[in-house]
Amino acid sequence: MSKSLNTELKEIYIFGYGSLMWKNNDFEFEFKIPGFIKGFKRRFYQNSIDHRGVLEKPGRVVTLIKGNDEERVYGIGYKILSEKSGEVLSHLDFREKNGYERYETLFYPIDNEENVKRVIVYVADSSNSSWNPDHDLNNIAKQVFHAVGPSGENIQYVLNLCQAMREYFPNHFHQDLHLFELEHILIRMQNMKHS
Ligand code: BEZ
Repeated sequence: MSKSLNTELKEIYIFGYGSLMWKNNDFEFEFKIPGFIKGFKRRFYQNSIDHRGVLEKPGRVVTLIKGNDEERVYGIGYKILSEKSGEVLSHLDFREKNGYERYETLFYPIDNEENVKRVIVYVADSSNSSWNPDHDLNNIAKQVFHAVGPSGENIQYVLNLCQAMREYFPNHFHQDLHLFELEHILIRMQNMKHS
């Protein structure tokens, strides 16, 4: 993975692995394709103080950490119109200003893995101020359960992501154990609250 200098890319694709998997009405794109990138793991290690939480009570959102070479993160590749790329990237840079940086990596469409594309992906690493070093899934679930931000309830972010994963990747979603164990804990917490 290298830092993205988007001017070098002839075709611009953006990889969505978080809210971009279900929420795609805030930027223009030509088309979208389900697929995956390799060498990463999706993790809820990033505090959210501006979307799914607030400064006093941060939520948790996804970022990517290094995995082994064959490890996959499933998500959506958005093809951006080249004449709109400046506008779309500025919009996403502003939206993801809380610790994320742009990188480039390879994207493999699920229906045609040979048709590899270069994609831009937003990643927040452990050096950013919203990185949360507590990686215990029960603690992440507690934080998610109680957090609400300007974009809504944090739990809804997790449930929407799980729903999108099931819809787009019916044969693969269950491989993302971190995500689906978190969903499991959250549903148990919801059921306990309502019983
Ligand atoms: C997304 O896929 O929604 C996303 C995740 C992290 C940063 C930016 C976008």
